[in-house]
Formats: sequence, C-alpha cells, structure tokens
Amino acid sequence: MPERQPIMAGNWKMHHTHLEAIQVVQKLSYQLDEKDYDGCEVVVCPAFTALRSVQTVLEADRIPIALGAQDVHWKEQGAFTGEVSPVMLAKLNVSYVIVGHSERRELFGETDETVSLKLKAVLKHGMSPIVCVGETLDEREAGRTDTKVSGQIRAGFAGVRGEDPLRCVVAYEPIWAIGTGRNATPEDASATIAVIRQTLRELYKGDADEIRIQYGGSVKPGNIADLMAMPEIDGALVGGASLDPVDFSRLIKYRA
Ligand code: PGA
Repeated sequence: MPERQPIMAGNWKMHHTHLEAIQVVQKLSYQLDEKDYDGCEVVVCPAFTALRSVQTVLEADRIPIALGAQDVHWKEQGAFTGEVSPVMLAKLNVSYVIVGHSERRELFGETDETVSLKLKAVLKHGMSPIVCVGETLDEREAGRTDTKVSGQIRAGFAGVRGEDPLRCVVAYEPIWAIGTGRNATPEDASATIAVIRQTLRELYKGDADEIRIQYGGSVKPGNIADLMAMPEIDGALVGGASLDPVDFSRLIKYRA
C-alpha cells in the first residue's frame, strides 16, 4: 500500500479581503515549523482577489504552503464575463484548484459535466484539482450515498487517463455536514471514502491507491484526530476552521 501524504486544505470561501488574507497566512506560518510541513501538505485557497497577495507573501518569505484557488473556468480565454481561466491561475503559481464544491453545484448550477471540463483544464495547465463529491441529507437517508458519490467520481474523471489521476485529490464532503457543525462520524466518512476508492480502482487499478482522499464538513480541532486516525482519510478540506490561523494550525498539528 503506498504512503499517501496527508493534505490539509483551507477553503476560505468568500471571506478575507486581500489584506486580511496576508495577515492570516503570515500568522499561520508563525504557528508552523518544518516538522509540521514534513508531516502534512498545507494548502490555502483564498478568494481570487487575494491570490496574488498571498502568492507574494508565500514566495517572498519562502513559506512552504501551497496556493489553491476555489474555482476556475475550463477555457483558456474568451468572452466569459466574471470568469477566471486556468492560464491565469497557473501564472500565479497556483498548485491546487477546488473543483465541484457543493456550494458551486447547489448554488451556481455546476454540473458533473462542467466539473469534468474544469478538472481536465486544471490538469492540462499543470495544477492539481481537489475534486469535491458528496450527498445531501435526503440522499443519505434514502440510502443513496454510495451511488451518488461513485456517479460523481465516474462523471468527473471521465476521460482522465495516464499519470493524470495521480495528481488529483478527492474531497468527500457530505453536504449536510458543511458549515453545520454536524460532522460525519469517522466511521461513516471512512466507509464512504472506501466506496470512492473502490470506484477509482475500477477506473485506475492500482494507481487508485495513490490518490489522496480528504474528508470535509465541520472539521474542527476537536474532531480532527479521530478523523485522521482512520487509514482511509488522507486529510481534510476545511472551511470555517481554516479562517483562523491558530485553529487551522491545530488541524495541521493533529498528531500533537
Ligand atoms: P466547513 O466547510 O469546514 O465550514 O464545514 C467545509 C467545506 O465547505 O469545504
């Protein structure tokens, strides 16, 4: 079984101006030392308006935190008012792009098809997608969790081949757990993540065991250790608790 390096990604959503983002990333870096970065890959995903500022701080101070974006368009350029292209993100040394977050799917009409286009565009431009999948409460109660997430994986990864799957990260985020304070139990999260990995194995055979799968949804300093104790869970995609640098650093130091 390959060693998968844990990955903790902060999704700041529509929070933090560029000035606040600079302060947060600096404060986060003061909390972390070499050993923390060795144990875990750290990613921050600021709003588009803060990407350039955060990039500058990370590079000037040589902070080994990877820069992520929260969304992207799949075309390289064109008449798409309000959109941001993968070329623009790659130029800012963005390493990760969240694709198909449930807020984009539920509130902004993102479909499995657009998720797949975005995923491939991110890969094409040398970045790694963090592909989000997850079920609603109704779907969970109706026993449709496994079909929902495996369907989202198959649709999203359609046409992704060769070495590309190895660069992808998947985030399992039950929609009912996002921002609600109600996290999935480590056992439930792990069981669904096992279904996701099985779906990836059907697509990519042994390579699937190298793809990192995060859990997301009300991850907090108080529940991270139990989640990370599950061998199937390779890290977390964190909203609320990533906004505060001390809280986020406690998640990164989950072993302490
Ligand atoms: P939350 O958000 O940690 O605030 O629940 C998670 C996410 O949406 O990625």
